[in-house]
Amino acid sequence: MDYNEFFLESKIPESEIERQRYFIKCAAQIVAKKSQEANRKLTYCVTTFGCQMNARDSEKICGILDEMGFVPIEDENADFVLYNTCTVRENANNKVYGRLGYLHSLKKKNPYMMIGLCGCMMQEPDEIETIKNKYKFVDLVFGTHNIFKFAELFTRSLVSDSMIIDIWKDTDQIVEDLPVHRKYPFKSGINIMFGCNNFCSYCIVPYVRGRERSRNPKDIIREIEKLVDDGVVEVMLLGQNVNSYGKNLEDPITFAQLLQEVEKIEGLKRIRFMTSHPKDLSDELIDVMANSNKICKHLHLPLQSGSSKLLKDMNRHYTKEQYLELANKIRNRIPDMAITTDIIVGYPGETEEDFLDTLDVVEQIQYDSAFTFIYSKRTGTPAAKRDDQIPEDVVKDRFDRLLSRVQDISHEKAKAYEGKDVEILVEEVNSHDDSLMTGRMSNNSTVHFPGDKSMIGSIVKVHLNECKGFYYMGELI
Ligand code: 5AD
Ligand code: SF4
Repeated sequence: MDYNEFFLESKIPESEIERQRYFIKCAAQIVAKKSQEANRKLTYCVTTFGCQMNARDSEKICGILDEMGFVPIEDENADFVLYNTCTVRENANNKVYGRLGYLHSLKKKNPYMMIGLCGCMMQEPDEIETIKNKYKFVDLVFGTHNIFKFAELFTRSLVSDSMIIDIWKDTDQIVEDLPVHRKYPFKSGINIMFGCNNFCSYCIVPYVRGRERSRNPKDIIREIEKLVDDGVVEVMLLGQNVNSYGKNLEDPITFAQLLQEVEKIEGLKRIRFMTSHPKDLSDELIDVMANSNKICKHLHLPLQSGSSKLLKDMNRHYTKEQYLELANKIRNRIPDMAITTDIIVGYPGETEEDFLDTLDVVEQIQYDSAFTFIYSKRTGTPAAKRDDQIPEDVVKDRFDRLLSRVQDISHEKAKAYEGKDVEILVEEVNSHDDSLMTGRMSNNSTVHFPGDKSMIGSIVKVHLNECKGFYYMGELI
């Protein structure tokens, strides 16, 4: 087979989606040939680090690999291993480098093996230099902006002996209708926007995910309708700041209006979304949530810090008081709404007093759960340049105090549901005991109960017998 033929510009279709479909077909021919040679099906394993956005990107990549004729496996001893990386905190980067060493040892034993890296970490020039110099055995590197080019890049990599690197600084393109391989048949993430314009002073996301771009509402609705036809009952609308959805569209639309459109889709049972920035959460949205039958009773509302001084420094555009007012407004209007949050400890210049303000918000809001993070210095962000970084032991002490309070509160909150009857979406067989099924409540808590596989994807009623801290044991009613 003369692979060069595939790359003749005269053969390649012009429209982006057709172009990528063309490369999927080219790759399928190469994969079939290699499978024949190896006398087995070629396998792939995509490992995702980080957030729901990355998880959704991975599903898109898996969809393309499936069409190329690869078989998915969980084991990294595969013919193509791709790490979809995260860089929001430094430890995420370290994890990737640690595991690349292990992949190298596998590659030495498998002549068909290819290794790929993509995602947020690849948008950082320093990391690319490290990979070029120290991880020469990697075959393919691409970033967050050109993920829709995956089929083409992968095809080039299939026939090349050297590392292929393609990183874009930004893009305004959104390519619709590429194949997707969903992890769950009954629920799915949907990107409603990409990028972030907020530039919180500690955060690298705006640098690696680019400027905010909203998808056209019609495309979103069409995608959800198709998913529902295909058995999906729950969607998670994804964006770094969903509350600013639609502002830059030619025909502007608010996030609340989009939600109302999604609500109308027949057959769709549950709607979730992630993430809400407190500065943009409108009364219109609270109204829509209060009146909806489908929007789940769970709002993730990142606090980051309870100190107005730090919040200003972080460029968050709200004060402690404004946050409290907003959260209380939501709680008063929708009492059974679970509120969860993200909190950073040890931001540069954080004093004990600032930290006590954070603890105070935690006490007042009584979060259903909270993700607590130790501040991680990200090169290129304004906060990284500051010379008042907090000593490790002080941060550790504050982190432990916060975590212990956050955990106690979420246990108390969860306990309050004990003895209640609730609806859950049955998601999977319990990983420790296959006589149990695991489902999720509207407020995002998990419930284990005796049941069988045939229930997966359906919404059932259970009685919550016992709260075990972060989850419940229940039974069907
Ligand atoms: N250090 C620690 N936590 C961070 N986050 C974002 N950037 C950093 C950082 N540099 C946290 C924020 C955000 C979540 C996704 O990650 O709390 O909401
Ligand atoms: Fe980062 Fe702030 Fe954007 Fe969230 S809103 S991704 S914390 S810059």
